[in-house]
Amino acid sequence: MGSGMYIASLLLSSSLVCAFSPEIRADTNRDGVVDLGGNTDAVGKDFWTEDRGAIFLPNIGDAEGRCYFTDRSGQDLSDIELASCNDASGDTLITPEYVAPLHTIPIQDIGSNATAHVAADLSSYVRIFWRRGSEWIYIDPEFIFNATAIRAGLELGIDSRALVADPDVWNGTVKISFTVADANTTKTDHVALKLAPVLLHHHLQPPQRLISVLGNDSTAAQHRFIRELDAAKQMAGLNTPLTLLGSSEDVWAQDLMEPAFASMPGPNGPISIRVILRAAQNSRPAGRQVFTHLRGRGIGGFQPVGSGGLGRREVNSGGNVETIPPYTSKKTGKRYPLGRILTGQHFEEKNSEAMMKFFQSQQLQDPLVIEAGWLAVGHVDEFISFLPADNQLGFTLAVSDPVAGLNVLRKANESGHGGVDAYSVNLRDWAPPQGAEPNLNWTISQVISDETVLHATTRAQKNIDSAVHVLLEETGLTKEDLIRIPHLFTDGEFSGPGHTESHDGLPPHMTPPKEGEFNVASFYPAAINGVVLDDHFICARAFGPVIDGKDIFQEAVEDAFRKSNMTVHFIDDFWSHHINGGDVHCGSNTLRDTAIPWWSQQ
Ligand SMILES: *[C@@H]1O[C@H](CO)[C@@H](O)[C@H](O)[C@H]1NC(C)=O
Ligand SMILES: *[C@@H]1O[C@H](CO)[C@@H](O)[C@H](O)[C@H]1NC(C)=O
Ligand SMILES: *[C@@H]1O[C@H](CO)[C@@H](O)[C@H](O)[C@H]1NC(C)=O
Ligand SMILES: *[C@@H]1O[C@H](CO)[C@@H](O)[C@H](O)[C@H]1NC(C)=O
Ligand SMILES: *[C@@H]1O[C@H](CO)[C@@H](O)[C@H](O)[C@H]1NC(C)=O
Ligand SMILES: *[C@@H]1O[C@H](CO)[C@@H](O)[C@H](O)[C@H]1NC(C)=O
Ligand SMILES: *[C@@H]1O[C@H](CO)[C@@H](O)[C@H](O)[C@H]1NC(C)=O
Ligand SMILES: *[C@@H]1O[C@H](CO)[C@@H](O)[C@H](O)[C@H]1NC(C)=O
Repeated sequence: MGSGMYIASLLLSSSLVCAFSPEIRADTNRDGVVDLGGNTDAVGKDFWTEDRGAIFLPNIGDAEGRCYFTDRSGQDLSDIELASCNDASGDTLITPEYVAPLHTIPIQDIGSNATAHVAADLSSYVRIFWRRGSEWIYIDPEFIFNATAIRAGLELGIDSRALVADPDVWNGTVKISFTVADANTTKTDHVALKLAPVLLHHHLQPPQRLISVLGNDSTAAQHRFIRELDAAKQMAGLNTPLTLLGSSEDVWAQDLMEPAFASMPGPNGPISIRVILRAAQNSRPAGRQVFTHLRGRGIGGFQPVGSGGLGRREVNSGGNVETIPPYTSKKTGKRYPLGRILTGQHFEEKNSEAMMKFFQSQQLQDPLVIEAGWLAVGHVDEFISFLPADNQLGFTLAVSDPVAGLNVLRKANESGHGGVDAYSVNLRDWAPPQGAEPNLNWTISQVISDETVLHATTRAQKNIDSAVHVLLEETGLTKEDLIRIPHLFTDGEFSGPGHTESHDGLPPHMTPPKEGEFNVASFYPAAINGVVLDDHFICARAFGPVIDGKDIFQEAVEDAFRKSNMTVHFIDDFWSHHINGGDVHCGSNTLRDTAIPWWSQQ
């Protein structure tokens, strides 16, 4: 054999060995497809940044209803067991529509014995699938792709089994490696992805479904509430049927949960999955309905785990978790293009550690905390609401106005109507439990000279002023922008038995007032506590004093809303909700548009 020939074969084999260069791509430029030609999805693909980098979804719905709620003997599964089942809890791809695409570039110059592996650096959280024809094959790190497959290029998909709940455990980033071995050469390429954050909805997002509670069959009041809510929803132009949670005495659809979503780019716009966060209240069985009633195709749940969620602390309720619509902080300059969580603390106590950590882990809506411990129930939705507005921000702040509430009655007294009944509601629809009738036998003059009412008014006004100060400083809204809704306050025992005795037989769950203090509750059904459906607002009718055939408190509330340009629908929640310390917002929830391209709004 001549030496020339030897050199030629050496060159040939070395070119064979060194020439191949594996490449795996994802939708790094976020246009909804993996670009195999050019370098649009190649540049910077192995390092995820806010501006660039592929996104994938938690695939945690239950598309085929295969999750069980009870064990074989019919016992309810524990909260953690109940939450642990979802479409990604096995190794089968049930919902290919929710995987993010990955592709390897076809490699021709490899030997027929070449092999490849695909693996994630955090393999316990993510699943990788290989598409062969109509089949999706689960790929573990040991799976070997042969030369035929490598030459054709691999069409892969990735999803997550979990949410990011603690960044010290996992911050959502994942690096996928594609390793090709041929003869004596092994080469690896990487692509970085990040799990989509779970984002809370705000009031400006279009509503898709309104949720309430079927209620206990024996309560006519809840049935009337649902009828009126349904009719108002219809008038607001929301035509999807009311979603009703199961019959239970726990009618607080707002408090059981917080609807959210996760989304990623798709070829025809965002691909998204709903994630409903169960409130951290593990002794509140109605909250399990996140998994037993709402989880389904494209809808998953989050179960906070940790000591902070023991029992049923009101500070952990969904009504105490709202979202400021998108704004840029006037104070710090920080942008919140997806809005920012607003939650109330009860003096030293904040929402459970598990939930706060979860919110912070999602990074984009870092919670702003205001004081809500001065309220008997203690939720931010008892005195604040964000309404769409025709201004630069697109929204304004509606707040309770306790002094204005008291002044409605003072004015009536001054014009000689002090003897008129303060309430215009009757007991017709309500069977009080064990004869515990609320005292509704008050005249206007009694109310305005009542020490408790006067003190509650002062206490509420002071605390609302502080919260408003924080929110105006943050958002740049001015006092003139505020929609101030007259709202009369009293103590937590005034209007009904529901405040002191928990109506679900559980131990008291309110935060005790500060020493020498009492916490306040609403005297009349509170209109501030309403539902925003586009430019419609559904809230409670006041049932205030009737003078000359007109409910003067209701009129004052209606006047105040005029400044907002919203179409307001008033419904009767007196015996269904108000008497137990909440109103329309507390008794309902909303599922809103999830097709939100958060990555392009940064
Ligand atoms: C592939 O492997 C087989 C069996 O190990 C061997 O006989 C063959 O020579 C190899 N082919 C190449 C191109 O290396
Ligand atoms: C390569 O793998 C595919 C799928 O696993 C298989 O169908 C095919 O027969 C393999 N080809 C060779 C040459 O081993
Ligand atoms: C996320 O965690 C990885 C390690 O798993 C780390 O390399 C990366 O810098 C982290 N990213 C952020 C934004 O903290
Ligand atoms: C691969 O390695 C083996 C042993 O280390 C060696 O005999 C062989 O020549 C190498 N082949 C190539 C193509 O480098
Ligand atoms: C309905 O409420 C009544 C009275 O509070 C109670 O006795 C009954 O057990 C409840 N039924 C259901 C299905 O919760
Ligand atoms: C209400 O409508 C009027 C007239 O179009 C407009 O000037 C005003 O800014 C609107 N108010 C809000 C809060 O959107
Ligand atoms: C109520 O009105 C009467 C008569 O107009 C007045 O004398 C009285 O002081 C008023 N009560 C209060 C508490 O303002
Ligand atoms: C309501 O108050 C009036 C006058 O204070 C009293 O005569 C009446 O008995 C009371 N009614 C009830 C149901 O307490």
